[in-house]
Amino acid sequence: MEEQTIRVQRSETKKEKPQSDQLIFGRSFTDHMFVMDYSDPLGWHNASIVPYQPLSIDPSSMIFHYGQSVFEGLKAFRTESGDIQLFRAEKNLERLNRSNDRLCIPQIDEEFTLKAIKQLISIEKDWVPSAEGTSLYIRPFIISTEAYIGVAPSMNYKLIVILSPVGAYYKEGINPVKIAVEDHYVRTVKGGTGEAKTGGNYASSLKAQEIVAKQGFAQVLWLDGVEKKYIEEVGSMNVFFKINGEVVTPQLNGSILSGVTRSSVIELLKHWGVPVSEKRISIQDLYQAYLDGELEEAFGSGTAAVISPIGQLTWEGKDMIVNNGETGELSKRIYDTITGIQYGHLDDPFQWIQGI
Ligand code: COI
Repeated sequence: MEEQTIRVQRSETKKEKPQSDQLIFGRSFTDHMFVMDYSDPLGWHNASIVPYQPLSIDPSSMIFHYGQSVFEGLKAFRTESGDIQLFRAEKNLERLNRSNDRLCIPQIDEEFTLKAIKQLISIEKDWVPSAEGTSLYIRPFIISTEAYIGVAPSMNYKLIVILSPVGAYYKEGINPVKIAVEDHYVRTVKGGTGEAKTGGNYASSLKAQEIVAKQGFAQVLWLDGVEKKYIEEVGSMNVFFKINGEVVTPQLNGSILSGVTRSSVIELLKHWGVPVSEKRISIQDLYQAYLDGELEEAFGSGTAAVISPIGQLTWEGKDMIVNNGETGELSKRIYDTITGIQYGHLDDPFQWIQGI
């Protein structure tokens, strides 16, 4: 198939950019966005970069009723020399297509979408912040736009990419967060949509999140949806525990998101020769490891969260204070290495980085 060209319509006005050292996550957006439509028999077409603007969508569009949508999150970083680089972008686009498959959304051309993202970022290059810990968050998403309220896969879609200059995801920054283990609600179940990056998983997490936020927790840690026994993920990040010298993380089972940062942490640990394994971890065993003094570190990993140390886990009213509530040595080393590669301070032996 002949590759599409990308039509570019420049914005006539420019928004004021937030100050690089005062960025909060997900509140400001750049001047342009990428949009592409899908319909039969044309397939994906109408690829354009246009001024950032509200969408005009029929109220009967299927997205508003049945939530058929997917999204991704990836980041562009500014190096000391001023270059802009992407971290493992192709992995996010592969995952977008896996999510598409689960949600009955047509596959996208990953190479073309990456090219469009790079072109959008080069138009918005002045929006890529340079202060420490900041980056340009890239949010591709697809919504179902057919005007029809019968329950079926939509015949029409829009893929949109918006960009947001961001700082740390948690208000704690890179300081340890407090996490509550959720034992009432569940995020998803085996055979559900847990492995897909789709809005419904996040919508179903809000109730529990709202309750624990009032008790001072940053997020909830989800247990499996069947037995509520095995650790799954936090929702905005995957989790790792260092127990008696070995790093463990829940194995992918269909209801856990296959995080790009998660797989980077595993690769890094293997490269360093640190024992790491993906396995089923019960919350009871984790608590026992804590009581036995073997729970040395805990941290979350995610694109938005990067590496976020966990200083306290609370389960059924019992507190597990990890590493005296302080950032562990290994968590810090992983954070420094991943961000060092992302910002170009360190060599990239894994070829995770590409220019735009
Ligand atoms: C990410 O880490 O990029 C995410 O998508 C998590 C969250 C912001 C929803």
